[in-house]
Amino acid sequence: MPTITETATTSPIGRQTPRIDGPFKVSGTAMYASDFNFPGLLFAVPVEAAIANGKLQKLDTSEAEKMPGVRAILHRANIGKIFRSVLQPPNSGIADERRPPFADDVVRYYGQYIAVAVADTFETAKAAGDAVRATYTKDKPNVSLDLQPEKEPETVETTHGRLKRLQGERGDPDKAFASAQVKIDQTYVTPAETHNPIELQGTIATWDGQMLTIYEESQAVFNLRSVLAQMFGLPKENVRVITKFVGSGFGSKLWPWTHCALACAAARKLGKPVKLVLSRRMMFQSVGHRPRTQQRVRVGATNEGKLVSLMQDYLNDLDILGGYHENCGEATSYFYSVPNLRVHWGRTRRNIGSPTPMRGPGAVPGLFATESAMNELADQLKIDPVRLRELNEPKIDEGKGIPFSSRHYLECLQLGGEKFGWANRNPEVGSMKRDGLILGWGVSGAAWISGRFPAQASVELRDDGSARIACGTQDIGTGTYTILAQLVSDKTGVPLNKIEVVLGDTSLPPGPISGGSLVTGSMVPAVFDAADNAITSLLAVATTEPGSPFGNRTRDDLAFESERVFAKADGPAKGIPFSDLLRRTNMRLVTGSGKSEGTLDDKKPKVSMHSYGCHFVEVTWQPAIARLRVSRVVTVIDGGRIINPLAGRNQIEGAVVMGVGMALLEHTIYDPQNGAPINSNLADYLMSVNADAPLMEVHFLDYPDTDVNPLGARGIGEIGLAGVAAAITAATYHATGVRVRELPIRIEDLLTSSILA
Ligand code: MOS
Repeated sequence: MPTITETATTSPIGRQTPRIDGPFKVSGTAMYASDFNFPGLLFAVPVEAAIANGKLQKLDTSEAEKMPGVRAILHRANIGKIFRSVLQPPNSGIADERRPPFADDVVRYYGQYIAVAVADTFETAKAAGDAVRATYTKDKPNVSLDLQPEKEPETVETTHGRLKRLQGERGDPDKAFASAQVKIDQTYVTPAETHNPIELQGTIATWDGQMLTIYEESQAVFNLRSVLAQMFGLPKENVRVITKFVGSGFGSKLWPWTHCALACAAARKLGKPVKLVLSRRMMFQSVGHRPRTQQRVRVGATNEGKLVSLMQDYLNDLDILGGYHENCGEATSYFYSVPNLRVHWGRTRRNIGSPTPMRGPGAVPGLFATESAMNELADQLKIDPVRLRELNEPKIDEGKGIPFSSRHYLECLQLGGEKFGWANRNPEVGSMKRDGLILGWGVSGAAWISGRFPAQASVELRDDGSARIACGTQDIGTGTYTILAQLVSDKTGVPLNKIEVVLGDTSLPPGPISGGSLVTGSMVPAVFDAADNAITSLLAVATTEPGSPFGNRTRDDLAFESERVFAKADGPAKGIPFSDLLRRTNMRLVTGSGKSEGTLDDKKPKVSMHSYGCHFVEVTWQPAIARLRVSRVVTVIDGGRIINPLAGRNQIEGAVVMGVGMALLEHTIYDPQNGAPINSNLADYLMSVNADAPLMEVHFLDYPDTDVNPLGARGIGEIGLAGVAAAITAATYHATGVRVRELPIRIEDLLTSSILA
């Protein structure tokens, strides 16, 4: 159980609150994008290129077109105009794959769409798609795992605009490294990983004249609207995106993908609503993945363990046309105190689909490398890895030269160590045993960004005593519906079961992307502002409208608390519920709009806002059968004020389980012959499941970070994954004596272990 002190008030903030959307999900009434239905709905199935590099020579659609029930086989010659979209800074027009579908006859990755079959039923569309014959001129695809940087200028275009490849530099890191008493110089590799949310990606597109409405499981409906408006040459008011429920996304649903444009273009062409849902195989090809990374980390230290130099040179692979940058250096410049530092990156183009953010993008592979290097340094110095981190705790964010808003990293390590029993550790490799198994213990730190996106919301108070909160942001399964209800309840006293939360629709007030673990932190001030304005409106009604018992009072005489309007002089007991006031004045509702500014585009921030945490991991090693299991994980998170500890713990546990998968199982394998991701299904792409889940203990420090918002709440969707893999490889070394620097850890790696039963 998390260490949360529940408050004595009736506010649900900080209380373990079950999801208010849970009943809809378990009863099957939650409407996911592909659950919507329309009269005359047609089904579309894309045709995938069966090569990864070459040219489409000929597309023979004649057999497919003749099949009964087929409405059209659409391709480059007949789909109609699809425009290019561009980035519209700061927060619109974002897409990792910007090439409109069918834009040319070049195939650059396996599974790139070359046609789309549309029919009366899904089965017919699938059969027709399979009957399309494509001939190609083929070149050998390049999916090589050895990454060498492309010759790119020092400032390059990325998905999010121009970036310098020299990400951070201070002091003279080369000189300090050369003269350091103790050195680590190692390269760490993380593989391509594919997001596997339960819900497949897909679109239902409907046109009403020049008005395009789409149902899509999007993590960012407003950005999707901005991209579609460009691609179809429409004012953005003519595009509406609806996302009521999302079967998770992990980042793969943040930015638009080409299947969405195909569905819109097919619906436009045929004058009917069109539904297009990807197969699991397509999910491995054309909707992003975490790219492969290769990171050289050099750390120099004194014999006492004080860092003197830190250099990180990292690469990620990406598609042929895109601009994806995996920000592995995100945490490097501020995590530890070091006077001499350089972080520099490059990229390597491959015949693969575009990478895209995956839970904790950048920091997760980045911290695998840098925290692994810290653990190796501790072993070389023969000092406790917790002690090494304590010795290098910074006083300020040395990268930006500004104070931290709220940082309690060392307290995370102290509490985690206590709960785990770290004091009982014997650092000697293979020395610890239990029940005939060899134990390995490891630790790692975690960090993730915090801050706010701009957000708006509206809150209504209604004559039946209910409230409604509306914002266009999404709930991707992380608990946003519940958090927003908690915020409204906190401000108004309306119980959770009388609060309607309306999300996921571009016709609602603009809200943040469900990304970066930033929704909760962004929404707090906007919802509070909206609720305050609704209450102000209510008090105005009380003094001005006929039927109010407060007609002889002024606005300043009145107050609102726990659903009641009352005269300050008389106290709440003599007041009336707001529902009474609204009924007596013949008003259905009062409404308030709220707004808050973002912090992320702040060029001169005054404080450095991040969440912190740590993981203590135990593995068991059974050398006779080379079996490695993660048996126990204690995680401590400094994530600001935790609004819903139940959902919060759930986020961290899920992330830890994903971290076990990252360390031991997950990797997407591209066939060097044809460039296809060959383990593109849930049988061959291994992920950790219940049987792999260790015993988990999650603790929250619960220090409010009021620089982020008045409640001091930061987001926690991603930080739980950061560092897990580094702690597991450290524990694996402790158990087996094998240092694994390329994930996932394979049985073959461990067969060299000298630790025998
Ligand atoms: Mo998260 S990768 O920012 O959806």
